[in-house]
Amino acid sequence: MSENSDESTAGGVGRRAFLGAAAFGTGAALAGFGGTAAAAATDRAAGAPQVAFPDKFGAFGGGAPGTNNRTEMDLYDCEVEGKLPIDLDGTWFRVGPDPQYPKPDKYAGDIMFDGEGHVSAFRFKNGHVDYKTRYAKTQRWKAQHEARRSLFGMYRNPTTDDPSVKGLSRGTANTQLFVHHQKLLVFKEDSPPVYMDPHTLETIDDYYTFGGKLKSQTHTAHPKIDSETGEYVSFGYEANGLCSKDIHVFSADKKGAVNWAVTVQAPYAGMMHDFAVTQKHIILYLTNMVSDMDRIRAGGVHFSYDSKMPCYLGIMRRGGDGKDLKWFTGQNLFCTHVMGAWTDGDKVTVDMDGGEGNQFPFFPSLREPFDPLKSIGLIRRFTVDLSSKTNDRYQTETIYPMISGVLSRQDDRYHTLKYRWGFINSTGGPGKPAGWAIIDHQEGKTQQCSVPDYSLSEMTFVPRKKGAPEGDGYLIGLGGSQKEAGRSDLIIFDTKAVAEGPVARVKMPFKCVGQVHGFWADAADLPAERQARKI
Ligand SMILES: [Fe+2]
Repeated sequence: MSENSDESTAGGVGRRAFLGAAAFGTGAALAGFGGTAAAAATDRAAGAPQVAFPDKFGAFGGGAPGTNNRTEMDLYDCEVEGKLPIDLDGTWFRVGPDPQYPKPDKYAGDIMFDGEGHVSAFRFKNGHVDYKTRYAKTQRWKAQHEARRSLFGMYRNPTTDDPSVKGLSRGTANTQLFVHHQKLLVFKEDSPPVYMDPHTLETIDDYYTFGGKLKSQTHTAHPKIDSETGEYVSFGYEANGLCSKDIHVFSADKKGAVNWAVTVQAPYAGMMHDFAVTQKHIILYLTNMVSDMDRIRAGGVHFSYDSKMPCYLGIMRRGGDGKDLKWFTGQNLFCTHVMGAWTDGDKVTVDMDGGEGNQFPFFPSLREPFDPLKSIGLIRRFTVDLSSKTNDRYQTETIYPMISGVLSRQDDRYHTLKYRWGFINSTGGPGKPAGWAIIDHQEGKTQQCSVPDYSLSEMTFVPRKKGAPEGDGYLIGLGGSQKEAGRSDLIIFDTKAVAEGPVARVKMPFKCVGQVHGFWADAADLPAERQARKI
């Protein structure tokens, strides 16, 4: 029996009764129905099924023990092996999906990226590290918490939701986070950011709109910060509703005040996971992972991969009216993350990792079976000559073909500038262990940070100190011990002494919550610490 069927009971109250209770809402409850808000919450949760995640790997929330964490934690003064850089003062944030509740049977095929965002913070100060995790208390999380069950159906498909949550944000805040204008902003690309306190991880605003100035229903997980001006530059695709071709691009000043915004049109609605910003240009990349309204209406997934559809690179001036946006085509490459980008005169260069085919096998390929070889990510250099008015093609080149990987990063202080140092989670290959690869574009050399017997999540570059040269500092990230059931170490490499191995490891006594991306915030960019955060 489906957990969503009207007959489903776990405490003698069926779904119909649950929906009836939910329809009264918090306002009615506070007005007297049920006596107190707490009692109303109990009413809404009545009949919620017992929490039981599937055992099956691949089912939503299913797999080996520890796949779901769900535990909000504080660990003061973590154990450290090696020599922690004493002058590191800041917080390394990370976030990933951590299913709050199992899905009803009919949505058990949903993808893991639909799990609720669970944020971790490693606070470095005076040679010590404190660890804290909290769920982003999204509108979705709060509704499900009260109901003690999953209420949202398939990934980016609101037609599958429980009627009681109509009108709530579907955002999970599970993909990436940034600190800007002293706020920790947590992203999922189908919704506006969630604003959390960077020290306490308390959720302050579950639908942050830059003071009401964000004119988009969506916001990328990969904004950029222009270190020359301190500006925050961002965009949202499908900005005006499901499968809309509208792309909203905007920037905000150091204090978070929106100072430029424009809405432009994509050739078609499809996935635009990352983008690039240079000193002069905004560069959008539309992949052929197409948004499919028919599939959405039929209760399926949001995206499907269509190898016949062209990928487009769109370029427009920063600060303009958007009318100069021009879309270029070239070799179809399925790229997800930008390593770096710059404008030099009339030439725009963007480095991204990507494959020749679908990299997301959890979304259907429409024309052919998923091809693992074509999914291999290599570093692709896109160049566009803007000097010719008739040119409508981008050029591509595979640089460092011996390095395959995903999750490209750079020294984040160089988001808009010509850059030298790139980083990528290298998947390794014959005779080459997996690890974090450091790429020196100036010298054309690569190095590999490998940690035997550990599987590594995405790393983040941390400058050695304020004003340190580009690439001079540390790579930090989580590793899961393959010999200890995935127990986590926070691993720290000195980028100038890679061959010596990690300079330090923060030894966690458990397997940490999973991660998509991470971000380093220097203490100078965090608000003053309140006494309350000290344990
Ligand atoms: Fe991403």
